[in-house]
Amino acid sequence: MSSSESALDCGPWTKKHLLGIEELSVAELETIFKASEFFVDASRNPEKKHTFLKGKVIANLFFESSTRTRVSFGLAARRLGAETIDFSPAGSSVSKGESFIDTAKNILALGVHGFIVRHSVPGTPHLLAQQLGASIINAGDGAHEHPTQGLLDAFTILQEKKKIKGLTVGLVGDITHSRVARSNIHTLTKLGAKVIVCGPPTLIPKEIEELGVRSSYDLDKILPECDVVNVLRIQFERQRSGLFPSIQEYFRLFGMTMDRVKKCRPDMLLLAPGPINRGIELTPEVADMPNSAILKQVTNGLAVRMAVLYLALSAKV
Ligand code: CP
Repeated sequence: MSSSESALDCGPWTKKHLLGIEELSVAELETIFKASEFFVDASRNPEKKHTFLKGKVIANLFFESSTRTRVSFGLAARRLGAETIDFSPAGSSVSKGESFIDTAKNILALGVHGFIVRHSVPGTPHLLAQQLGASIINAGDGAHEHPTQGLLDAFTILQEKKKIKGLTVGLVGDITHSRVARSNIHTLTKLGAKVIVCGPPTLIPKEIEELGVRSSYDLDKILPECDVVNVLRIQFERQRSGLFPSIQEYFRLFGMTMDRVKKCRPDMLLLAPGPINRGIELTPEVADMPNSAILKQVTNGLAVRMAVLYLALSAKV
């Protein structure tokens, strides 16, 4: 570690990459949350910038669109003292036929220590981890995992509910195509929450219950049980054909409305990873109600991503 600050003592961590939540232990999740808690101050106040990653270069390598993840990883890296590179394929030599791996190797040759990777193909960050010597952080690989989203959702639940064990969390919407659903399921079940996935039968894979969750096609029935409701986006870009009759039909059966909020516990915590589509997955009133932590999730994403970058790039492996 190139740093003028001494290492944090936040628990066990020996991983150079963060490729998914599935392979993390409960102790490692707790380490990330302790480090995130440490970085909350610096995430809220630019004057509390750290030097843990001084001398490191971190590259955003985004082959899919992003607002929250891309911006917050860049800010997280700079707030830890690193230099940053922000790559996107538009306007790059990818349009001249350069392959993904060659592109990554060329950026690595500029002296990069860590890559934040988003790609539509599941397993792309794993491929880079095998091919490059740098730390690789998965920022979303197809419908597989989005580990920092799972972490920041859980961190927000911990902040708001003071615990995760014993809570019931509903994940509502397009489970089949959602990497956020998978990362949430792995995080929350490891930490002792009960998870119910809910959506149209065409958007819930049959084998999902093997991950230790219950599935339901009836939102109105499960809402009174839920301490937390996480509303997922319909991933139109990953669907090959229409998987429900119409958006109006989806909204009627699975849209979060104020009438549905009335069926929930008064202290139900509403999450949504974003981007949100007002009027499809939830109404504007629900998105902006006091129980909604949608923007708190975004704010927490910065501390969580600082924690992940700090741990991965300081790991002794
Ligand atoms: N939640 C999330 O990943 O948002 P972005 O696609 O904007 O990064």
